[in-house]
Amino acid sequence: MSYITLAIATGRTAKRAMTFLEKAGIEFPDFHNNSRKLVIYDTTKKVRLIFAKTADLCTYVEKGAADVGIVGKDTIMEETPDVYELLDFEFGKCQLVVAGFPESDVQQTNALTVASKYPKIAEQFFQERNKRIETIKLNGSIELAPLIGLSDVIVDIVETGTTLNQNGLVVLDTIADVSARLIVNKASYATKTDDIQSFIQSLTKVLEEV
Ligand code: PRP
Repeated sequence: MSYITLAIATGRTAKRAMTFLEKAGIEFPDFHNNSRKLVIYDTTKKVRLIFAKTADLCTYVEKGAADVGIVGKDTIMEETPDVYELLDFEFGKCQLVVAGFPESDVQQTNALTVASKYPKIAEQFFQERNKRIETIKLNGSIELAPLIGLSDVIVDIVETGTTLNQNGLVVLDTIADVSARLIVNKASYATKTDDIQSFIQSLTKVLEEV
């Protein structure tokens, strides 16, 4: 029996994606919040679900290990995978921003250091503004960098603003609005067209209901 392999980014996207899939009638009986299973099937065995680290998700889809994937636009912008981006789920909405102390003057700071999970996005953003920067790649708790003097500012996602707030940081500039997207492997789309289209249709129905 044929199935499509769907990759979901672990972390905050996973929960919302699972809720969305459930609304679309795609249910995974083996999914539990505390489960450590990395591969599970839906009740109809049409979808094989794999859980991947956010930073690796685009690789799984681009290389065809997964046919489709659900991942944030921020990760797509950073990784620029050679895939189709076919759906905006409209959950996981947040903003990619430059943040720092309220008194930070990015333009006036020479040799600006920027800490980020998104070094490519940061470099491109400042390059377009003719500002040379030094990027420091971090993998989490990015807000810590300016607090302890590792960087002048950060490029990161902001959802509720709580983390910035609680650490005395503010948004200095907005780079982009982001949300969860469906990405599709190009070869899979050609060879499993019907399966992928019917999967997308069931997701689109949920979006139309909202
Ligand atoms: C993200 C992001 C910010 C925070 C923003 O981190 O890097 O730190 O969420 O959310 P807020 O505006 O609602 O406070 P995440 O929770 O993914 O963990 P991380 O620090 O390990 O990257």
